[in-house]
Amino acid sequence: MTESDVDGVAELDKQCFAKPWSRRSFEDELKNSLAVYFVASEGSTVIGYCGFWQVAGEGDITNIAVLPGYRRRGVGGRLLGRLIDEAEALGLGSLTLEVRRSNETAKRLYRKYGFEQVGERKRYYSDNNEDAIIMMKRLKTNG
Ligand SMILES: CC(C)(COP(=O)(O)OP(=O)(O)OC[C@H]1O[C@@H](n2cnc3c(N)ncnc32)[C@H](O)[C@@H]1OP(=O)(O)O)[C@@H](O)C(=O)NCCC(=O)NCCS
Repeated sequence: MTESDVDGVAELDKQCFAKPWSRRSFEDELKNSLAVYFVASEGSTVIGYCGFWQVAGEGDITNIAVLPGYRRRGVGGRLLGRLIDEAEALGLGSLTLEVRRSNETAKRLYRKYGFEQVGERKRYYSDNNEDAIIMMKRLKTNG
């Protein structure tokens, strides 16, 4: 993700989430040396993005989303695959994420890429008090 993608990513986030991040949040992520973000584009349209933070040698996935009209074409999978490759190249030990218990689509995507449930956080999402499922994938170390 670069500065020129930020408008498109913020617009995509609005279309995908009830509580989207602000444009400013994505700009801040560009300046955050611990954050890594990728976008998928078709022409000048941002059709997907994903990102993670590196925290103490581990990766924490912040989000992944694909524009509704572009889903089920492998875009989300390719983004997640690219993210995993990058985390491995950085030598991170694992990737962790939180996902809403009801989000079967995302859980399926994560399972397909080797993530497993390792815990849950009760009533984690304040908008509807939904539980978060914590999923993790151990990465191949470089050493
Ligand atoms: C989750 C999301 C990113 C998947 O993107 P996508 O581009 O449609 O995903 P892909 O086409 O690459 O599909 C990859 C895998 O995800 C799973 N999947 C994707 N869409 C699915 C659906 N509608 N139903 C069931 N499984 C689905 C499948 O395992 C699929 O593999 P398969 O095609 O071999 O069955 C997309 O649905 C999205 O943006 N959802 C809203 C945002 C969101 O909930 N993000 C996760 C926050 S934690």
